[in-house]
Amino acid sequence: MEHNFLTVAVIGTGAMGRGIAQMAAQAGCQVRLFDQQAGAADAARQYIQGQWERLRDKGKLDSAQVEGLSGKLQGVDALEGLAGCDIAIEAIVERLDAKRQLFATLETLLAPDAVLASNTSSLSITALGAGVQRPERLAGLHFFNPVPLMKVVEVIPGLRTNPQVCQRLAALVRAMGHTPVQAHDTPGFIVNHAGRAYNTEALRIVSEGIADFATIDRILRDQVGFRLGPFELMDLTGLDVSHPVMESIYHQYYEEPRYRPSAIAAQRVAGGIVGRKTGTGFYRYTNNQAEVSPEPATPRVAEIPPVWVSPRAARRAELLQLLKDLGARIETGASPSPQALTLVAPLGFDVTTVAVVDRHDPARTVGIDLLVEDAATRRRVLATNPATRLDMRDAAHALFARDGKPVSVIRDSGGFVTQRVVASIVNLASDICQQGICTPADLETAVTLGLGYPLGPLAMGDRWGGASILEVLFNMQTVYGDPRYRPSPWLRRRAAIGLSLKHEEA
Ligand code: NAI
Repeated sequence: MEHNFLTVAVIGTGAMGRGIAQMAAQAGCQVRLFDQQAGAADAARQYIQGQWERLRDKGKLDSAQVEGLSGKLQGVDALEGLAGCDIAIEAIVERLDAKRQLFATLETLLAPDAVLASNTSSLSITALGAGVQRPERLAGLHFFNPVPLMKVVEVIPGLRTNPQVCQRLAALVRAMGHTPVQAHDTPGFIVNHAGRAYNTEALRIVSEGIADFATIDRILRDQVGFRLGPFELMDLTGLDVSHPVMESIYHQYYEEPRYRPSAIAAQRVAGGIVGRKTGTGFYRYTNNQAEVSPEPATPRVAEIPPVWVSPRAARRAELLQLLKDLGARIETGASPSPQALTLVAPLGFDVTTVAVVDRHDPARTVGIDLLVEDAATRRRVLATNPATRLDMRDAAHALFARDGKPVSVIRDSGGFVTQRVVASIVNLASDICQQGICTPADLETAVTLGLGYPLGPLAMGDRWGGASILEVLFNMQTVYGDPRYRPSPWLRRRAAIGLSLKHEEA
């Protein structure tokens, strides 16, 4: 379908509005800019002009193209100047009353078939539609910051929106060179909803004293391939921005425990320790560079004891091969000798529980996270239990560091770090599919483009095994007795019968 938007009005020319205006002009539309603050629309026009000149200097546009694009932008100093536009996209202050009032005025100025679009990230499109005469022509069009670089745009119909309006908006997004995804009108739509698990679970791990910020960041970068660890990411976004989003989604879902925000984040917001922009967040910044304390050194151990591997260890054959490659003395008896370091590799259970249930000596028991195969990771993660002896901990650390791969040792936790965070991401994404908020394909696109994850969350589940993720969640539910680890029916039903998590029922 063609979008047929020849003239686009952009209202609110701050960070988002100027990006949207730039992309609309690049899509070939005439663009009119309005901002209630005098001079702001002109400043935005100059800013966009500057962006095009930079693209010209980089050889991505020629002078004729820049001139052509400049001719497409026009600032207006009153809303009346927007009359005749085919679509109005608002990116004003995030307040329901302000947006409703704006749309009510626009309705009187624009033709009856003109489209009204909102860039809101947290308000209900249906609620915005309730404030206009013709809600069938109003939809959400949610861009991400910075607009030219973030290639995904969520198109959101309200309950009364005409589906054709969304098809035209999707066509406009494609003409901008971006990828549209469609989401039901639900809190956080797709990206801000699917993104809840990463930071929330990481904060929860810290709040349980299992590992510090930098260790968690290292583990998730090196084991899963996230470009930024959750604390680096929160520092970049700013907790003043991300914490209110967490709170808003939590309350909009009527205090669903899965979205519960963290007291750690609330305290930091109150203290103004919000991230890079204030010079201090989870890390300290000098010249915009994070100060990261060095990793704990590998302990020197004169003699590493023999190693006994639990028959119930995840990826046991792989673990035994790895130990062989590392030159370990491996015990093959039915139970460990009195000197042996006992290795367990649980999914979802903590080391303590495994030691108790399998009757191992906790003082000599250490866990290793093998959700992800060792060959695919750049770090190994070990966990102690409260009784683990220092010599056993150090021996395990030294042994697994023998080939130079970094090792992190954390305190005992159901699901280590990677299992907890990955399982939470996969579970939340599965629930988004279960609720029918979007298609599995749109979910994967939205998360990889909008959040920059190395894999879509459903692909992540498939990659490391839906059945393993399910096991992690079941066991974490037992360890923590917390409903937030309750597996989504989408995940449970697909994993239980060996289907891909992307599988849609016929
Ligand atoms: P901003 O503060 O940079 O810009 C807002 C602009 O709107 C200002 O220039 C302001 O003068 C103008 N404005 C406010 N009320 C107005 C009114 N009634 N009529 C005309 N102009 C008005 O804000 P930003 O970051 O560009 O956000 C705008 C919208 O985009 C909000 O709804 C926000 O939730 C949404 N959004 C923001 C994202 C971000 O990362 N900043 C991402 C996605 C959506």
